[in-house]
Amino acid sequence: MERLQKYIADSGYCSRRKAEELIQNGQVTVNGQVATIGMKVENNDSVKINGKLIKKDIKEYYLLNKPRGVICSSSDEKGRKTVVDLIKTNKRIYPIGRLDYDTTGLILLTNDGDFANLMMSPKNNIKKTYIAKLEGIITGEIIKKIKNGVVLDNHKCVPDRVKLKRYDVKTNTSLVEITIHEGRNHEVKRIFEAFNFNVLKLKRERYEFLTLGKLKSGEYRFLSLEEVNELKKLTKK
Ligand code: URA
Repeated sequence: MERLQKYIADSGYCSRRKAEELIQNGQVTVNGQVATIGMKVENNDSVKINGKLIKKDIKEYYLLNKPRGVICSSSDEKGRKTVVDLIKTNKRIYPIGRLDYDTTGLILLTNDGDFANLMMSPKNNIKKTYIAKLEGIITGEIIKKIKNGVVLDNHKCVPDRVKLKRYDVKTNTSLVEITIHEGRNHEVKRIFEAFNFNVLKLKRERYEFLTLGKLKSGEYRFLSLEEVNELKKLTKK
C-alpha cells in the first residue's frame, strides 16, 4: 500500500505536488470513487486521472560509461548532448549525481527518485573512485596532506583513499587514484587545485562495488536487481 500522490508520481505522469492538486480538484478516481488526499492504494487498484488509467512505472537502472563532451542532465538549453540521449528508453530517466562535461566514466541513471536520493545523500557515504591525470609531479608529502583533508566551501573534505599510481618525468604528469564519498561540485579537481595541480583528465572508475567492466565509452548496461538491492543495503548501515 502506498499514498495515492506517490503512486501517481511514480507512474511518471507528473510530480507529487501536481498529483495532490489533481486529487484536490477531484480529477482522480480510485476504483470508480473520487479520490482524497493521502488515501492509500495498491498495485491492482484502478487509478484514473480524468478518466484515463494510470499504470505504475517500471523502474529502470542503468550504468553508463560516460564519454567526454556530454553533459550530466536530462536536457540542455544549449542543445548539447546529454547522458540521457545515449540511452534508449521511453522512461523519464536522469543521472544520479553529476560528472563534469570533460569527465569520463561510470555514471548511474534511473527513473527511481527514491533510489537516486539515497545514492546522492552525503550522509550515506557512497564511495566513488576516480583516476586523475595531473599536470606536474606530485610528491608523497602532498598526497599525505590531501589524505588529511582539504577545506572546500568551509568544509573539510577527507578522501577515503588517495594513492599515487605513477608519474612520468618526460611528460611531466602524475596519475592518482582518489576515493571520495561526498560529491561536492568539482570536488576532485578542486582538491588537486588546492595544491596547484591542474587536472588534465578525470575518469570515474568505481561506484562502490560497481566497475565499468568491459563497457566502452558511450556503452551502457542495466543494473541487476541484486546490484540495486546491494547499493540500497549500503545506505542502511
Ligand atoms: N570531481 C570533479 O572535479 N569532477 C567530476 O566530474 C567528478 C568529481
